[in-house]
Amino acid sequence: MYKILTLLTLSLFSYGQQHSFEPSTTCKECHPVIYDEFQSTQHANASIFKDEIHAAVWKKHPKNTKLQSYGCAKCHTPAASNLDELVQKNNSILPDLNDSTQVEGVSCAYCHRIESIKHGHMMNENIISKEGKAYFGTLKDHIDSPFHKVKTQSIHFNNGNVCIGCHSHKKNKHDMNVCSTNIKNELDEANCVSCHMPKVKGSISIMRETKEHTFHGFPGTHSHQDMLAKYVDLELLKGINGFDIAINNKSSHALTLHPMRVMQLRVKIARDGESKVFTPKGFVRAIGADGKPTPPWLAKEIVKDSSVKANEKRVINYNYKLLKGDKVEVTIGYYLVNPKMLKGLNLEKSAVATKFHHFKTESFMIGK
Ligand code: HEC
Ligand code: HEC
Ligand code: HEC
Ligand code: HEC
Ligand code: HEC
Repeated sequence: MYKILTLLTLSLFSYGQQHSFEPSTTCKECHPVIYDEFQSTQHANASIFKDEIHAAVWKKHPKNTKLQSYGCAKCHTPAASNLDELVQKNNSILPDLNDSTQVEGVSCAYCHRIESIKHGHMMNENIISKEGKAYFGTLKDHIDSPFHKVKTQSIHFNNGNVCIGCHSHKKNKHDMNVCSTNIKNELDEANCVSCHMPKVKGSISIMRETKEHTFHGFPGTHSHQDMLAKYVDLELLKGINGFDIAINNKSSHALTLHPMRVMQLRVKIARDGESKVFTPKGFVRAIGADGKPTPPWLAKEIVKDSSVKANEKRVINYNYKLLKGDKVEVTIGYYLVNPKMLKGLNLEKSAVATKFHHFKTESFMIGK
């Protein structure tokens, strides 16, 4: 009985998620500005063929080495024409570079067909509308498109949380949440879309000139970080024997979301033509077991969490007396992959994984 039930739930779980989507290249013809912005994003490049960090983790992952099930497809290549097969266990079907739908990543049509989001214990699930070539959006005033229907009744598009089907949480078999945005929408007027998809210059389509469109370059840790810099303030507070640096996170989630990331605070003081550089301070949300970091699939607990939380102002003290005329330069930025993990993942030579991705710098001149 138990077996039958599991089989039944397994098949219910793994079937019926597959649809066919118009390729993103078809959108280019009429939405060239949006298409160009999208090309360089992690959404467009989420497959193992285009994201070397994802590929490196996949290579070591037991779902690859033991189960032969590319479960990652649900979020990394959800427009794959064989999604159901890809996520099934033990059928030896692995991602195929020659199938363009498996290289598409989170495609235009996929995202614009998310009708609702089903909450799940392990992860959420996007419910895709059955109507192909009909896209959800939020434009109150629009012309008709000769290519597709436009639908404006999706609450998830209207409240800016269409992202949480993939970005809310992902648990491993030890019931450990390995990656989480942990949205506490305490900020009334800000949501995923208002911060990560701001309005910028340029027309929505070539069929009607508009001044603005929604930026589809998805600023994040890989790119366009400058567009998010205003949500984090760096402050300097001078004391008698030392000084404090405050990182004031005005966003609705922690500053290091993915367990591979390390955020660093770097402080440098210029005085009389010389410079004093402090040891960088790291911020991580490290997961592992028995007090030690492990790969995500083995993790049972959070072994260290120094990440700066949603709406938190973190104060770091420096025991160093500032003098008049000092120039204090404060920088924060990220390593996409914790330098300690590079070797194990064979990413020591990867430029994107080893680079320090600059986020924000602030300089302070010390008066008397
Ligand atoms: C529930 C959706 C979901 C599933 C399933 C999923 N991921 Fe992800 N993954 C994400 C999201 C969302 C991000 C971006 C997170 C961020 O930047 O904080 C991400 C980012 C990553 C990154 C960082 C990539 C980079 O370039 O920095 C790696 C590595 C990764 N995932 C590996 C995997 C592997 C391997 C699997 C399958 C075994 C998998 N993921 C399954 C949602 C998912
Ligand atoms: C033949 C031209 C054409 C093609 C091809 C095309 N669109 Fe459009 N699309 C339009 C026009 C015209 C509008 C309305 C723009 C306006 O009112 O300014 C539009 C509007 C939209 C909207 C806005 C809906 C809203 O209310 O916010 C979305 C979303 C959209 N298109 C997605 C896509 C996607 C995804 C593709 C590719 C799969 C695509 N379009 C291909 C012409 C096209
Ligand atoms: C108030 C603005 C704000 C809101 C609201 C917001 N974010 Fe962010 N987000 C940021 C900032 C600031 C960063 C950090 C900058 C960076 O990664 O370089 C960030 C980073 C990220 C990253 C990259 C993290 C990593 O470790 O790679 C992801 C993914 C992300 N946000 C997704 C979301 C999602 C999904 C939502 C909605 C649930 C959301 N954000 C809501 C401001 C915001
Ligand atoms: C990760 C999800 C996601 C992906 C991928 C995505 N979009 Fe969007 N798109 C949105 C959201 C959300 C909005 C609504 C923004 C708002 O309400 O401000 C939007 C708005 C639009 C609009 C309405 C016009 C505007 O500027 O507001 C068009 C047209 C559009 N997208 C086309 C595309 C095309 C073409 C692609 C691929 C090149 C694409 N989208 C990829 C989420 C996505
Ligand atoms: C179908 C699943 C899916 C949906 C829906 C989705 N994302 Fe993502 N997102 C991903 C994955 C997977 C990644 C990581 C890809 C990688 O790095 O390989 C990612 C990465 C990101 C990043 C990190 C970019 C960087 O530079 O590190 C941001 C920011 C982001 N998404 C924002 C959004 C926003 C905003 C929405 C909603 C409008 C959204 N996502 C909807 C799957 C999704």
